Amino acid sequence: MNNESSDEIPVLDALSNLGGYIKWCTPSVLPHQRKVSNIYKSDISVSAGFLGSYVDNTGVFKEAHKKAARVYGADKTLFSVNGTTGSNFVVLRMLTLEYESPQILVARNIHHSILHAAEWLGIKFRFIKSSYDPQFESLIPPKPEDVLDTLNNYPESNAVIISSPTYSGLAAKIDDIVKVVKNFDKEIKVIVDEAWGSHLHFSDELPKSAMQAGADISVQSTHKQGGSLQQTGMIHWKEKYVNSELMYEAFREYATTSPSYHLLASLDAVRAYMKKNGHEAVESLIKKAEYFKDLLGKRLIPPPQGYG
Ligand SMILES: Cc1ncc(COP(=O)(O)O)c(C=O)c1O
Repeated sequence: MNNESSDEIPVLDALSNLGGYIKWCTPSVLPHQRKVSNIYKSDISVSAGFLGSYVDNTGVFKEAHKKAARVYGADKTLFSVNGTTGSNFVVLRMLTLEYESPQILVARNIHHSILHAAEWLGIKFRFIKSSYDPQFESLIPPKPEDVLDTLNNYPESNAVIISSPTYSGLAAKIDDIVKVVKNFDKEIKVIVDEAWGSHLHFSDELPKSAMQAGADISVQSTHKQGGSLQQTGMIHWKEKYVNSELMYEAFREYATTSPSYHLLASLDAVRAYMKKNGHEAVESLIKKAEYFKDLLGKRLIPPPQGYG
């Protein structure tokens, strides 16, 4: 017999009782962005066709995608309500629509969603040579010469996929990787899993964003470093070597037909906020990080117990 109390609502209760929880993690919701005021009242059906369709990229959604492309330096942008995990599936599906038997070269530290999407879609993948730094216990992103070596071994490849920045905060030299790949064969796509890099576009002190560095496609988890609600992300691309119709087709196949409009509104709001205040927001973040590093250096913050 189930003797669970019938009035327990575990997820709701847990969220309601978070109390004075201090966040050191994602989502990175920016405090001053505009927010939808009453989510229950405004949670309308996709049948409210006057808004247009997210999946078909029409109406207000098309407008929002277009504005985001302008702000993040892309030709085209689509919003994701399934993080970068979902965006990686869309991008890899697009490759299978374009090539009969695609092959990709991937960095060793690539997110599991890329490998799983490749397995599901029957895409052959080969690893790019990578090195490991034992001091930081971290895989180093591939260098341009590592990419070239791997291309020489597998010249029939259709795309090179790099994670940058990595989970450990290391950025690859995307502009040099783009040069190496395009010199080798301009049709080979450079795809950057930029899950951790949606803030890069708004600073001159940080590495360039993938779009600034000349990549063909970038997928970002805007909820990580970009200021929007959990689960949200963006796919950006340049049209020179990417067929937009195929990307839209892959997106239509994958995207939920009933997305949360609040998640989409959060992406739209963050785009507007970052356009106006992005440089200032990232600059202030860098200053805080420097200050924190300084305190750590001076040991004003005592090390955790057991550490010298
Ligand atoms: C490099 C990288 N790509 C993709 C993802 C998945 O992102 P999301 O949680 O937005 O689906 C992560 C998650 O940490 C990641 O580190």
